[in-house]
Amino acid sequence: MSPFLLTRTLPEDATGAALRADVLHGLTRAPKALPPKWFYDARGSALFEEITTLPEYYPTRAEREILVARAAEIAGITGAHTLIELGSGSSEKTRHLIDAMASLHTYVPVDVSESALTGAANTLLAHRPGLDVHALIADFTRGLALPGTPGPRLVAFLGGTLGNLLPAERAAFLSSVRGLLSPGDALLLGTDLVKDESVLVSAYDDATGVTASFNKNVLSVMNRELEADFDPDTFDHVAVWDRDHEWIEMRLRSTAAQTVKIPALGLAVDFAAGEEMRTEVSAKFRKEGVKAELAAQGLDLTHWWTDERGRFALSLSTPV
Ligand code: AVJ
Repeated sequence: MSPFLLTRTLPEDATGAALRADVLHGLTRAPKALPPKWFYDARGSALFEEITTLPEYYPTRAEREILVARAAEIAGITGAHTLIELGSGSSEKTRHLIDAMASLHTYVPVDVSESALTGAANTLLAHRPGLDVHALIADFTRGLALPGTPGPRLVAFLGGTLGNLLPAERAAFLSSVRGLLSPGDALLLGTDLVKDESVLVSAYDDATGVTASFNKNVLSVMNRELEADFDPDTFDHVAVWDRDHEWIEMRLRSTAAQTVKIPALGLAVDFAAGEEMRTEVSAKFRKEGVKAELAAQGLDLTHWWTDERGRFALSLSTPV
């Protein structure tokens, strides 16, 4: 028996084709914008792991606090035999949940980063050798083909990554998750909560500049994958709180007028001095909003847990 399977659900070049489409679309529109998923090559995934240890970046610690406090309760309520984790990254926090799930048979981590998946699977298997791990290299925003694993299933989407989707994308995503669930299954969702602007902005603009390097990494990804000639030193990291949408926006601001060549797309992109390109939104939530967004896709919020300081929430919902 091989307890570890790694499946690429898309053809090898699908990722490249998606990157080309996103960059072509995003850099020829006004204002310029790129989807945040392109941060996460091996270096970007490592930088994100570093972000989670920064004093300013509270979401990971707040969510871990909830998982540690509630893992046994979540395991008991769901009784899941399969845990599917979307955007699993290092799976570090998930360990707490897995440890509490005595009846767990199969863990299905899904991520765009192959390096994150293999690293996480190796760590997990050393810790829980009997577990079946079926890792999927997949973009969960593009529909999911999951292996037929034993129910009941718990789908976990942690870290507040839901907030990286725009409202219409969130609706489509939650609808596709709803489509994966049968009666008895559940969704465990992590959402960062609205709080003081200064706390939020610091979390996305840390003093040591790790988040700035993470943000600029998307330029290195385009340089490597599309032979582009972005000079990361000519872009400044920007993080702003949009109080109308209740989301943080990360942007890259061109410090000078410049033209960037992207040979793989046959494109030359002009940036004005001071022009900003959006690279991420990270929406912050309130309980009523989460409940409404779930309900709109046929999911009933049954449990809501926050950390002691009310910074972050985990919710459990079930198909109606
Ligand atoms: C892991 C995607 C939820 O939005 O807070 C961290 C990514 N961006 N710092 C977030 C991120 C800037 C993070 N997510």
